[in-house]
Amino acid sequence: MQAITHADGLVASEAAFLDAHPSFRETAVLDELRASEYARLDARGEVYLDYCGGSLYATSQVEEHQRLLRETVFGNPHSANPTSSAATALVQRARAAVLRYFRAPESEYECIFTANASGALRLVGEAYPFGPAGRFLATSDNHNSVNGIREFARTKGARTAYVPLGCPDLRVDDEVLLGLLDDRDAGCSNLFAFPAQSNFSGVKHPLEWIAPARERGWDVLVDGAAFVPTNRLDLSVWTPDFVAISFYKLFGYPTGLGALLARRDALRRLDRPWFAGGTVVAANVGGDLVVPLSGHAGFEDGTVDYLGIPAMEIGLRHVERVGIDLISRRVEALGTWLLAGLRRVRHADGGPAVRVYGPATWDGRGATIALNFLHPDGRVVDERFVDMLAADHDISVRTGCFCNPGAGEAAFLLSPDALTGVGFGDDMILDDFITRIGMPSGGAVRVSLGLASNFADVHRFMAFATRFRDLEDVPQHLPPRLAC
Ligand SMILES: Cc1ncc(COP(=O)(O)O)c(C=O)c1O
Repeated sequence: MQAITHADGLVASEAAFLDAHPSFRETAVLDELRASEYARLDARGEVYLDYCGGSLYATSQVEEHQRLLRETVFGNPHSANPTSSAATALVQRARAAVLRYFRAPESEYECIFTANASGALRLVGEAYPFGPAGRFLATSDNHNSVNGIREFARTKGARTAYVPLGCPDLRVDDEVLLGLLDDRDAGCSNLFAFPAQSNFSGVKHPLEWIAPARERGWDVLVDGAAFVPTNRLDLSVWTPDFVAISFYKLFGYPTGLGALLARRDALRRLDRPWFAGGTVVAANVGGDLVVPLSGHAGFEDGTVDYLGIPAMEIGLRHVERVGIDLISRRVEALGTWLLAGLRRVRHADGGPAVRVYGPATWDGRGATIALNFLHPDGRVVDERFVDMLAADHDISVRTGCFCNPGAGEAAFLLSPDALTGVGFGDDMILDDFITRIGMPSGGAVRVSLGLASNFADVHRFMAFATRFRDLEDVPQHLPPRLAC
Protein backbone atom coordinates (compact mmCIF):
# COMPACT_ATOMS: atom_id res chain seq x y z
CA MET A 1 0.00 0.00 0.00
CA GLN A 2 1.43 3.35 -0.99
CA ALA A 3 0.67 6.61 0.74
CA ILE A 4 0.57 10.18 -0.49
CA THR A 5 1.47 12.95 1.91
CA HIS A 6 -0.44 16.05 0.97
CA ALA A 7 0.76 19.57 1.58
CA ASP A 8 -1.43 19.77 4.67
CA GLY A 9 0.16 16.64 6.09
CA LEU A 10 -2.83 14.42 5.37
CA VAL A 11 -1.95 10.85 4.53
CA ALA A 12 -4.31 9.07 2.15
CA SER A 13 -3.90 5.32 1.95
CA GLU A 14 -6.04 2.49 0.67
CA ALA A 15 -6.91 1.67 4.29
CA ALA A 16 -8.14 5.22 4.86
CA PHE A 17 -10.09 5.06 1.62
CA LEU A 18 -11.75 1.79 2.62
CA ASP A 19 -12.61 3.21 6.03
CA ALA A 20 -14.27 6.17 4.38
CA HIS A 21 -16.03 4.03 1.74
CA PRO A 22 -16.72 0.63 3.33
CA SER A 23 -19.18 -0.32 0.58
CA PHE A 24 -16.27 -0.29 -1.89
CA ARG A 25 -15.36 -3.74 -0.58
CA GLU A 26 -18.60 -5.02 -2.08
CA THR A 27 -17.18 -4.23 -5.52
CA ALA A 28 -14.12 -6.45 -4.99
CA VAL A 29 -15.22 -8.66 -7.88
CA LEU A 30 -14.16 -5.79 -10.11
CA ASP A 31 -10.63 -6.00 -8.71
CA GLU A 32 -10.60 -9.68 -9.69
CA LEU A 33 -11.88 -8.75 -13.12
CA ARG A 34 -9.20 -6.10 -13.45
CA ALA A 35 -6.56 -8.73 -12.71
CA SER A 36 -7.96 -11.28 -15.16
CA GLU A 37 -9.69 -9.39 -17.97
CA TYR A 38 -7.81 -6.10 -17.98
CA ALA A 39 -4.37 -7.41 -16.93
CA ARG A 40 -2.75 -5.54 -19.81
CA LEU A 41 -3.22 -2.27 -17.90
CA ASP A 42 -1.04 -3.32 -14.99
CA ALA A 43 1.34 -5.33 -17.17
CA ARG A 44 2.08 -2.13 -19.06
CA GLY A 45 1.88 0.12 -15.99
CA GLU A 46 -0.82 2.21 -17.64
CA VAL A 47 -3.22 4.40 -15.68
CA TYR A 48 -6.28 4.75 -17.87
CA LEU A 49 -8.52 7.63 -16.88
CA ASP A 50 -10.37 8.39 -20.11
CA TYR A 51 -13.41 6.13 -19.84
CA CYS A 52 -15.63 8.98 -21.01
CA GLY A 53 -13.57 8.97 -24.19
CA GLY A 54 -13.89 5.20 -24.54
CA SER A 55 -14.18 2.25 -22.20
CA LEU A 56 -11.78 -0.71 -22.25
CA TYR A 57 -12.61 -4.18 -23.53
CA ALA A 58 -12.20 -7.34 -21.51
CA THR A 59 -9.84 -9.92 -23.03
CA SER A 60 -12.64 -12.47 -23.11
CA GLN A 61 -14.81 -10.21 -25.28
CA VAL A 62 -12.19 -10.23 -28.01
CA GLU A 63 -11.54 -13.97 -27.62
CA GLU A 64 -15.22 -14.85 -27.82
CA HIS A 65 -15.67 -12.69 -30.88
CA GLN A 66 -12.62 -14.17 -32.57
CA ARG A 67 -13.90 -17.67 -31.84
CA LEU A 68 -17.24 -16.80 -33.39
CA LEU A 69 -15.56 -15.45 -36.51
CA ARG A 70 -13.20 -18.42 -36.76
CA GLU A 71 -15.95 -21.01 -36.43
CA THR A 72 -18.83 -19.49 -38.39
CA VAL A 73 -19.48 -18.24 -41.89
CA PHE A 74 -21.40 -14.99 -42.14
CA GLY A 75 -22.65 -13.36 -45.33
CA ASN A 76 -24.20 -9.97 -46.01
CA PRO A 77 -27.58 -10.01 -44.25
CA HIS A 78 -29.42 -8.42 -47.20
CA SER A 79 -30.09 -11.87 -48.63
CA ALA A 80 -31.74 -15.20 -47.88
CA ASN A 81 -28.87 -17.66 -48.34
CA PRO A 82 -27.62 -19.68 -45.34
CA THR A 83 -24.64 -17.48 -44.47
CA SER A 84 -26.76 -14.37 -44.85
CA SER A 85 -29.48 -15.86 -42.67
CA ALA A 86 -26.86 -16.68 -40.02
CA ALA A 87 -25.81 -13.02 -39.93
CA THR A 88 -29.43 -11.83 -39.92
CA ALA A 89 -30.23 -14.05 -36.94
CA LEU A 90 -27.34 -12.63 -34.91
CA VAL A 91 -28.18 -9.05 -35.83
CA GLN A 92 -31.80 -9.59 -34.79
CA ARG A 93 -30.72 -11.22 -31.57
CA ALA A 94 -28.37 -8.33 -30.80
CA ARG A 95 -31.10 -5.78 -31.52
CA ALA A 96 -33.41 -7.52 -29.06
CA ALA A 97 -30.57 -7.73 -26.51
CA VAL A 98 -30.02 -3.97 -26.68
CA LEU A 99 -33.71 -3.27 -26.05
CA ARG A 100 -33.72 -5.78 -23.20
CA TYR A 101 -30.60 -4.26 -21.66
CA PHE A 102 -32.25 -0.83 -21.57
CA ARG A 103 -35.56 -2.39 -20.47
CA ALA A 104 -37.20 -0.77 -23.47
CA PRO A 105 -40.51 -2.45 -24.29
CA GLU A 106 -40.32 -3.74 -27.88
CA SER A 107 -43.87 -2.55 -28.40
CA GLU A 108 -42.70 1.02 -27.75
CA TYR A 109 -39.05 1.28 -28.81
CA GLU A 110 -36.97 0.52 -31.88
CA CYS A 111 -33.19 -0.03 -31.85
CA ILE A 112 -31.47 1.40 -34.92
CA PHE A 113 -27.82 0.52 -35.37
CA THR A 114 -25.55 3.41 -36.31
CA ALA A 115 -21.80 3.97 -36.53
CA ASN A 116 -21.73 5.85 -33.20
CA ALA A 117 -23.72 8.26 -31.04
CA SER A 118 -23.01 11.07 -33.50
CA GLY A 119 -24.57 8.99 -36.27
CA ALA A 120 -27.65 8.44 -34.12
CA LEU A 121 -27.94 12.16 -33.37
CA ARG A 122 -27.54 13.02 -37.02
CA LEU A 123 -30.34 10.61 -37.96
CA VAL A 124 -32.69 12.55 -35.68
CA GLY A 125 -31.41 15.99 -36.68
CA GLU A 126 -31.61 15.52 -40.43
CA ALA A 127 -35.05 13.88 -40.38
CA TYR A 128 -36.76 15.84 -37.63
CA PRO A 129 -39.73 17.78 -39.06
CA PHE A 130 -38.44 21.21 -38.01
CA GLY A 131 -40.30 24.10 -39.56
CA PRO A 132 -40.98 27.81 -39.11
CA ALA A 133 -42.46 28.42 -35.63
CA GLY A 134 -41.03 25.08 -34.47
CA ARG A 135 -38.15 25.05 -32.00
CA PHE A 136 -34.91 23.31 -31.21
CA LEU A 137 -34.00 23.76 -27.55
CA ALA A 138 -30.77 22.37 -26.10
CA THR A 139 -28.90 22.72 -22.84
CA SER A 140 -25.71 24.76 -23.24
CA ASP A 141 -24.00 21.66 -21.89
CA ASN A 142 -24.04 19.41 -24.93
CA HIS A 143 -21.60 17.58 -27.15
CA ASN A 144 -21.05 19.16 -30.56
CA SER A 145 -22.85 16.21 -32.12
CA VAL A 146 -26.01 17.56 -30.45
CA ASN A 147 -25.11 21.20 -31.08
CA GLY A 148 -24.85 20.37 -34.76
CA ILE A 149 -28.58 19.63 -34.90
CA ARG A 150 -29.17 23.39 -34.68
CA GLU A 151 -27.89 23.70 -38.25
CA PHE A 152 -30.63 21.35 -39.53
CA ALA A 153 -33.20 23.27 -37.45
CA ARG A 154 -32.12 26.67 -38.77
CA THR A 155 -32.04 25.49 -42.37
CA LYS A 156 -35.70 24.55 -42.01
CA GLY A 157 -36.55 27.90 -40.37
CA ALA A 158 -37.01 26.69 -36.79
CA ARG A 159 -36.00 28.88 -33.85
CA THR A 160 -33.08 27.59 -31.77
CA ALA A 161 -32.28 28.38 -28.15
CA TYR A 162 -29.93 27.21 -25.43
CA VAL A 163 -30.73 26.68 -21.77
CA PRO A 164 -28.00 28.47 -19.77
CA LEU A 165 -25.86 26.82 -17.11
CA GLY A 166 -25.42 28.20 -13.62
CA CYS A 167 -21.99 28.73 -12.09
CA PRO A 168 -20.05 27.21 -10.50
CA ASP A 169 -22.05 23.97 -10.50
CA LEU A 170 -22.73 24.00 -14.29
CA ARG A 171 -26.30 22.82 -13.80
CA VAL A 172 -29.53 24.08 -15.31
CA ASP A 173 -32.09 25.95 -13.20
CA ASP A 174 -35.32 23.93 -13.43
CA GLU A 175 -37.47 27.08 -13.39
CA VAL A 176 -35.56 28.59 -16.29
CA LEU A 177 -35.90 25.36 -18.23
CA LEU A 178 -39.64 25.09 -17.61
CA GLY A 179 -40.06 28.69 -18.77
CA LEU A 180 -38.28 27.86 -22.04
CA LEU A 181 -40.30 24.67 -22.46
CA ASP A 182 -43.50 26.72 -22.05
CA ASP A 183 -42.41 29.05 -24.84
CA ARG A 184 -43.40 26.96 -27.86
CA ASP A 185 -46.17 26.60 -30.41
CA ALA A 186 -47.83 23.29 -29.52
CA GLY A 187 -49.03 22.92 -33.12
CA CYS A 188 -45.43 22.64 -34.36
CA SER A 189 -42.68 20.08 -34.00
CA ASN A 190 -40.39 21.03 -31.11
CA LEU A 191 -37.26 19.13 -30.11
CA PHE A 192 -35.51 19.38 -26.73
CA ALA A 193 -32.06 17.78 -26.35
CA PHE A 194 -29.91 17.25 -23.29
CA PRO A 195 -27.19 14.86 -22.11
CA ALA A 196 -28.12 12.50 -19.29
CA GLN A 197 -24.57 13.10 -18.09
CA SER A 198 -22.23 15.84 -19.15
CA ASN A 199 -19.07 14.72 -20.90
CA PHE A 200 -17.44 17.89 -19.56
CA SER A 201 -18.45 18.33 -15.93
CA GLY A 202 -19.99 14.94 -15.12
CA VAL A 203 -23.24 16.68 -14.11
CA LYS A 204 -26.20 14.32 -14.33
CA HIS A 205 -28.98 16.37 -15.86
CA PRO A 206 -32.30 15.14 -14.46
CA LEU A 207 -34.13 12.49 -16.42
CA GLU A 208 -37.12 13.93 -14.54
CA TRP A 209 -37.19 16.64 -17.23
CA ILE A 210 -38.43 14.16 -19.81
CA ALA A 211 -42.05 13.89 -18.63
CA PRO A 212 -42.81 17.62 -18.26
CA ALA A 213 -41.16 18.34 -21.59
CA ARG A 214 -43.23 15.69 -23.35
CA GLU A 215 -46.39 16.89 -21.59
CA ARG A 216 -45.71 20.32 -23.09
CA GLY A 217 -45.57 18.81 -26.56
CA TRP A 218 -41.78 18.52 -26.99
CA ASP A 219 -40.02 15.53 -28.43
CA VAL A 220 -37.15 14.71 -26.11
CA LEU A 221 -33.73 13.59 -27.30
CA VAL A 222 -31.47 12.26 -24.55
CA ASP A 223 -27.78 11.98 -25.33
CA GLY A 224 -26.90 8.91 -23.30
CA ALA A 225 -23.31 8.54 -24.56
CA ALA A 226 -21.58 9.64 -21.35
CA PHE A 227 -24.25 8.34 -18.97
CA VAL A 228 -24.84 4.71 -19.88
CA PRO A 229 -21.27 3.42 -19.31
CA THR A 230 -21.62 3.84 -15.53
CA ASN A 231 -25.37 4.22 -14.95
CA ARG A 232 -28.53 2.28 -15.56
CA LEU A 233 -30.83 3.82 -18.14
CA ASP A 234 -34.20 2.16 -17.68
CA LEU A 235 -36.55 2.93 -20.54
CA SER A 236 -39.46 1.28 -18.76
CA VAL A 237 -39.22 4.16 -16.27
CA TRP A 238 -37.99 7.04 -18.44
CA THR A 239 -39.68 7.57 -21.78
CA PRO A 240 -37.59 9.87 -23.97
CA ASP A 241 -38.46 9.91 -27.66
CA PHE A 242 -34.85 9.35 -28.72
CA VAL A 243 -31.67 8.14 -27.03
CA ALA A 244 -28.23 8.17 -28.67
CA ILE A 245 -25.39 5.92 -27.49
CA SER A 246 -22.00 4.58 -28.58
CA PHE A 247 -21.20 1.01 -27.57
CA TYR A 248 -17.42 1.38 -27.28
CA LYS A 249 -18.07 3.83 -24.43
CA LEU A 250 -19.86 1.02 -22.59
CA PHE A 251 -17.46 -1.87 -23.10
CA GLY A 252 -14.60 -0.79 -25.35
CA TYR A 253 -15.09 -3.17 -28.27
CA PRO A 254 -16.20 -3.01 -31.00
CA THR A 255 -15.57 0.58 -31.94
CA GLY A 256 -17.70 1.88 -34.78
CA LEU A 257 -21.12 0.88 -33.47
CA GLY A 258 -23.79 2.93 -31.80
CA ALA A 259 -27.53 3.00 -31.60
CA LEU A 260 -30.51 5.26 -31.76
CA LEU A 261 -33.21 4.00 -29.43
CA ALA A 262 -36.40 5.61 -30.62
CA ARG A 263 -40.01 5.50 -29.61
CA ARG A 264 -41.94 3.96 -32.47
CA ASP A 265 -44.42 6.86 -32.64
CA ALA A 266 -41.61 9.45 -32.67
CA LEU A 267 -39.76 7.52 -35.37
CA ARG A 268 -42.84 7.62 -37.59
CA ARG A 269 -42.79 11.43 -37.41
CA LEU A 270 -39.27 11.64 -38.82
CA ASP A 271 -38.94 12.45 -42.47
CA ARG A 272 -35.68 11.23 -43.98
CA PRO A 273 -34.05 13.48 -46.58
CA TRP A 274 -32.85 10.58 -48.70
CA PHE A 275 -33.08 6.84 -49.16
CA ALA A 276 -30.38 4.23 -49.50
CA GLY A 277 -29.87 0.55 -50.02
CA GLY A 278 -31.63 -1.40 -47.32
CA THR A 279 -34.06 1.39 -46.36
CA VAL A 280 -36.79 0.94 -48.99
CA VAL A 281 -39.54 -1.52 -49.83
CA ALA A 282 -39.25 -0.45 -53.44
CA ALA A 283 -37.68 2.27 -55.54
CA ASN A 284 -37.47 2.82 -59.26
CA VAL A 285 -35.79 5.18 -61.62
CA GLY A 286 -38.29 5.43 -64.49
CA GLY A 287 -41.29 6.18 -62.28
CA ASP A 288 -39.36 8.14 -59.61
CA LEU A 289 -40.86 5.84 -56.98
CA VAL A 290 -39.60 5.34 -53.48
CA VAL A 291 -41.43 3.46 -50.74
CA PRO A 292 -39.48 3.61 -47.48
CA LEU A 293 -39.34 0.70 -45.07
CA SER A 294 -40.88 1.37 -41.68
CA GLY A 295 -39.15 0.97 -38.31
CA HIS A 296 -35.44 0.48 -37.83
CA ALA A 297 -34.88 -0.79 -41.38
CA GLY A 298 -35.84 2.60 -42.81
CA PHE A 299 -32.96 4.20 -40.91
CA GLU A 300 -30.08 1.79 -41.40
CA ASP A 301 -28.37 2.91 -44.57
CA GLY A 302 -26.65 0.21 -46.53
CA THR A 303 -25.17 -2.83 -44.87
CA VAL A 304 -25.02 -2.83 -41.08
CA ASP A 305 -21.77 -3.85 -39.36
CA TYR A 306 -22.86 -7.49 -39.29
CA LEU A 307 -19.56 -8.79 -37.96
CA GLY A 308 -19.25 -6.08 -35.34
CA ILE A 309 -22.82 -6.38 -34.08
CA PRO A 310 -22.27 -9.85 -32.55
CA ALA A 311 -19.19 -8.44 -30.78
CA MET A 312 -21.48 -5.73 -29.41
CA GLU A 313 -23.82 -8.35 -28.00
CA ILE A 314 -20.86 -10.11 -26.37
CA GLY A 315 -19.87 -6.79 -24.79
CA LEU A 316 -23.38 -6.21 -23.55
CA ARG A 317 -23.41 -9.66 -21.92
CA HIS A 318 -20.10 -8.82 -20.26
CA VAL A 319 -21.52 -5.66 -18.69
CA GLU A 320 -24.67 -7.53 -17.69
CA ARG A 321 -22.59 -10.18 -15.94
CA VAL A 322 -20.60 -7.53 -14.09
CA GLY A 323 -23.69 -5.47 -13.30
CA ILE A 324 -24.12 -1.81 -14.15
CA ASP A 325 -25.27 -1.03 -10.59
CA LEU A 326 -22.02 -2.45 -9.23
CA ILE A 327 -20.04 -0.32 -11.68
CA SER A 328 -22.04 2.73 -10.51
CA ARG A 329 -21.22 2.02 -6.87
CA ARG A 330 -17.57 1.47 -7.68
CA VAL A 331 -17.06 4.74 -9.54
CA GLU A 332 -19.08 6.62 -6.93
CA ALA A 333 -16.67 5.59 -4.16
CA LEU A 334 -13.57 6.28 -6.25
CA GLY A 335 -14.98 9.54 -7.63
CA THR A 336 -16.00 10.84 -4.23
CA TRP A 337 -12.54 10.11 -2.88
CA LEU A 338 -10.85 11.73 -5.85
CA LEU A 339 -12.96 14.88 -5.60
CA ALA A 340 -12.20 15.22 -1.89
CA GLY A 341 -8.49 14.54 -2.47
CA LEU A 342 -8.23 17.13 -5.23
CA ARG A 343 -9.66 19.79 -2.92
CA ARG A 344 -6.82 19.10 -0.51
CA VAL A 345 -4.00 19.58 -3.00
CA ARG A 346 -2.64 22.95 -1.92
CA HIS A 347 0.37 25.15 -2.48
CA ALA A 348 2.73 25.97 0.40
CA ASP A 349 0.79 29.21 1.03
CA GLY A 350 -2.46 27.22 1.42
CA GLY A 351 -3.90 28.31 -1.94
CA PRO A 352 -5.63 25.66 -4.12
CA ALA A 353 -3.49 23.84 -6.68
CA VAL A 354 -6.58 22.39 -8.42
CA ARG A 355 -9.79 23.95 -9.67
CA VAL A 356 -12.63 21.50 -10.37
CA TYR A 357 -15.32 22.67 -12.80
CA GLY A 358 -18.87 21.72 -11.89
CA PRO A 359 -20.10 20.07 -8.71
CA ALA A 360 -17.46 19.78 -6.01
CA THR A 361 -19.16 16.82 -4.32
CA TRP A 362 -20.72 13.62 -5.64
CA ASP A 363 -24.27 14.89 -5.38
CA GLY A 364 -26.02 14.64 -8.79
CA ARG A 365 -22.91 13.90 -10.77
CA GLY A 366 -21.02 11.05 -12.38
CA ALA A 367 -17.41 9.93 -12.61
CA THR A 368 -16.20 12.51 -15.10
CA ILE A 369 -14.21 15.28 -13.46
CA ALA A 370 -13.00 18.35 -15.34
CA LEU A 371 -10.28 20.35 -13.66
CA ASN A 372 -7.33 22.60 -14.15
CA PHE A 373 -4.17 22.76 -12.13
CA LEU A 374 -3.32 26.22 -10.84
CA HIS A 375 0.01 27.96 -10.31
CA PRO A 376 0.50 29.51 -6.85
CA ASP A 377 -0.51 32.93 -8.25
CA GLY A 378 -3.82 31.45 -9.47
CA ARG A 379 -2.99 31.21 -13.20
CA VAL A 380 -4.16 28.06 -14.95
CA VAL A 381 -1.40 25.57 -15.72
CA ASP A 382 -1.28 25.09 -19.48
CA GLU A 383 -3.15 21.85 -20.23
CA ARG A 384 -0.54 20.91 -22.85
CA PHE A 385 2.07 20.72 -20.12
CA VAL A 386 -0.28 18.58 -18.03
CA ASP A 387 -0.69 16.29 -21.02
CA MET A 388 3.07 15.95 -21.45
CA LEU A 389 3.68 15.26 -17.78
CA ALA A 390 0.79 12.78 -17.65
CA ALA A 391 2.28 10.92 -20.61
CA ASP A 392 5.62 10.73 -18.75
CA HIS A 393 3.73 9.02 -15.92
CA ASP A 394 1.83 6.66 -18.26
CA ILE A 395 -1.41 8.38 -17.30
CA SER A 396 -4.11 8.75 -19.96
CA VAL A 397 -6.38 11.72 -19.34
CA ARG A 398 -8.14 13.93 -21.85
CA THR A 399 -7.36 17.62 -22.25
CA GLY A 400 -9.08 20.36 -24.22
CA CYS A 401 -12.74 21.28 -24.51
CA PHE A 402 -14.07 17.73 -25.07
CA CYS A 403 -16.26 18.83 -28.02
CA ASN A 404 -18.51 20.56 -25.49
CA PRO A 405 -18.00 24.30 -26.03
CA GLY A 406 -21.08 25.38 -24.06
CA ALA A 407 -19.99 23.78 -20.80
CA GLY A 408 -16.50 25.19 -21.33
CA GLU A 409 -17.85 28.69 -21.92
CA ALA A 410 -19.80 28.50 -18.66
CA ALA A 411 -16.86 27.00 -16.76
CA PHE A 412 -14.46 29.69 -18.00
CA LEU A 413 -17.06 32.45 -17.51
CA LEU A 414 -17.08 33.46 -21.18
CA SER A 415 -20.22 35.51 -21.72
CA PRO A 416 -22.16 35.49 -25.01
CA ASP A 417 -21.11 39.16 -25.33
CA ALA A 418 -17.45 38.14 -25.33
CA LEU A 419 -18.11 35.51 -27.98
CA THR A 420 -20.59 37.16 -30.33
CA GLY A 421 -18.99 38.30 -33.54
CA VAL A 422 -15.57 36.83 -32.79
CA GLY A 423 -14.63 35.26 -36.08
CA PHE A 424 -12.14 32.57 -36.95
CA GLY A 425 -10.02 34.09 -39.73
CA ASP A 426 -8.44 32.01 -42.48
CA ASP A 427 -5.00 32.86 -41.12
CA MET A 428 -5.84 31.81 -37.56
CA ILE A 429 -5.16 28.62 -35.68
CA LEU A 430 -7.05 27.50 -32.59
CA ASP A 431 -4.46 29.15 -30.33
CA ASP A 432 -5.22 32.58 -31.85
CA PHE A 433 -8.93 32.04 -31.29
CA ILE A 434 -8.38 31.00 -27.67
CA THR A 435 -6.40 34.19 -27.05
CA ARG A 436 -9.01 36.30 -28.80
CA ILE A 437 -11.92 35.06 -26.67
CA GLY A 438 -9.90 35.33 -23.47
CA MET A 439 -9.68 31.67 -22.44
CA PRO A 440 -7.05 31.07 -19.76
CA SER A 441 -5.85 27.92 -21.57
CA GLY A 442 -7.02 25.48 -24.23
CA GLY A 443 -9.63 24.00 -21.92
CA ALA A 444 -9.45 21.64 -19.02
CA VAL A 445 -8.08 18.29 -17.95
CA ARG A 446 -10.67 15.52 -17.79
CA VAL A 447 -10.37 12.50 -15.54
CA SER A 448 -13.04 9.86 -16.03
CA LEU A 449 -13.56 6.52 -14.34
CA GLY A 450 -15.17 3.33 -15.55
CA LEU A 451 -15.69 -0.36 -15.11
CA ALA A 452 -12.00 -1.30 -14.83
CA SER A 453 -10.97 1.61 -12.58
CA ASN A 454 -9.40 0.69 -9.26
CA PHE A 455 -8.03 2.40 -6.20
CA ALA A 456 -4.46 2.31 -7.54
CA ASP A 457 -5.47 4.33 -10.64
CA VAL A 458 -6.99 7.09 -8.57
CA HIS A 459 -4.14 6.93 -6.10
CA ARG A 460 -1.59 7.37 -8.88
CA PHE A 461 -3.50 10.31 -10.28
CA MET A 462 -3.54 11.93 -6.84
CA ALA A 463 0.21 11.41 -6.55
CA PHE A 464 0.53 12.99 -10.00
CA ALA A 465 -1.65 15.93 -8.91
CA THR A 466 0.72 16.74 -6.06
CA ARG A 467 3.45 17.38 -8.67
CA PHE A 468 1.68 20.66 -9.42
CA ARG A 469 2.09 22.06 -5.94
CA ASP A 470 4.16 25.24 -5.98
CA LEU A 471 4.76 24.95 -9.72
CA GLU A 472 5.68 28.51 -10.72
CA ASP A 473 5.88 28.08 -14.48
CA VAL A 474 5.80 25.69 -17.40
CA PRO A 475 8.24 25.44 -20.33
CA GLN A 476 7.77 27.86 -23.23
CA HIS A 477 7.10 26.61 -26.76
CA LEU A 478 4.48 23.96 -26.13
CA PRO A 479 3.05 22.45 -29.33
CA PRO A 480 0.35 24.57 -31.01
CA ARG A 481 -3.29 23.65 -30.47
CA LEU A 482 -4.89 22.77 -33.77
CA ALA A 483 -8.40 21.47 -32.94
CA CYS A 484 -10.65 21.40 -29.91
C1 LIG B 1 -22.01 13.11 -24.32
C2 LIG B 1 -21.48 12.67 -25.66
N1 LIG B 1 -22.28 12.72 -26.72
C3 LIG B 1 -21.88 12.33 -27.93
C4 LIG B 1 -20.61 11.89 -28.13
C5 LIG B 1 -20.20 11.47 -29.50
O1 LIG B 1 -19.87 10.13 -29.48
P1 LIG B 1 -19.21 9.45 -30.77
O2 LIG B 1 -17.91 10.17 -30.98
O3 LIG B 1 -19.03 8.04 -30.37
O4 LIG B 1 -20.16 9.63 -31.88
C6 LIG B 1 -19.72 11.84 -27.07
C7 LIG B 1 -18.32 11.42 -27.28
O5 LIG B 1 -17.46 11.61 -26.48
C8 LIG B 1 -20.17 12.23 -25.79
O6 LIG B 1 -19.37 12.18 -24.72
